[in-house]
Amino acid sequence: MIPEGLIHAAEILQSAQRVVVSTGAGMSRESGIPTFRDAQEGLWARFNPEELATERGFRTAPARVWGWYAHRRRAIMSCEPHPGHGALVALERLLPELVVVTQNIDGLHQASGSADVIELHGSIRRSKCLDHGHPFAGAFDEEIAGGEDAEQDPPPCPDCGSPLRPDVVWFGEMLPAAATTRAREFAEQCDVMLVVGTSGMVWPAAELPFVAERSGACIIEINPDPSEITRIADVFLQGRAGEVLPALVQALNVLRH
Ligand code: APR
Repeated sequence: MIPEGLIHAAEILQSAQRVVVSTGAGMSRESGIPTFRDAQEGLWARFNPEELATERGFRTAPARVWGWYAHRRRAIMSCEPHPGHGALVALERLLPELVVVTQNIDGLHQASGSADVIELHGSIRRSKCLDHGHPFAGAFDEEIAGGEDAEQDPPPCPDCGSPLRPDVVWFGEMLPAAATTRAREFAEQCDVMLVVGTSGMVWPAAELPFVAERSGACIIEINPDPSEITRIADVFLQGRAGEVLPALVQALNVLRH
């Protein structure tokens, strides 16, 4: 028997025209993506986040910061999407319009086939140059002549020679304007926002469900634990993304047939 909450969520989705899926770190958990803190092991444990994830830290010690991101990139690239990512791709095919807005920098939504993904905090799979922001999407020979945990000099930008940095949002930086504007527009216009695996504590991403709710959207939340979003959720589906999302797609398929 399908649990009542799942049926209710599926009914809401079935009549929706425009759905936004807002994902956070919990969405990547079952893929084994290490958090910033998880990755801070060995050599890296002695640095604080300001030294590893700020422009100032990069300007002070570019080889340290580039080496840290090479270390993180290597860990992230060895992870695979899980069935919850696949369920979002299936959902996209069942509904008129679905866009994913993510705080995650791992690129797993795109890797699993989601067509429209707005990345609020950038992507570790891309780089850009420090001085002009020229984008660089090429891969790096991961990496590091010196082996695991070694510092390494950032490669120069092919366009201008300035050092490349990861295209992620560092502490103290603005979120990318185009991504933020688009995400906010979708939040204002959607019928349903499905919020998956976020504590709702990191702003401005955390504001999106509140914007959607104020604009009249239904909020469905998936999380093993209550979050800052739970009090505005019309349906709270307690559980893991990798289990609840496939069950939700199954419930929607049952309703449709
Ligand atoms: N499925 C769904 N949700 C889960 C799972 C799971 N398997 N495991 C944990 N969660 C939930 C937790 O209960 C928590 O509410 O995911 C949430 C993770 O919260 P945070 O770690 O605060 O992550 P997030 O909300 O994404 O905010 C941190 O800020 O530093 C930046 O970009 C970085 O994404 C990161 C964000």
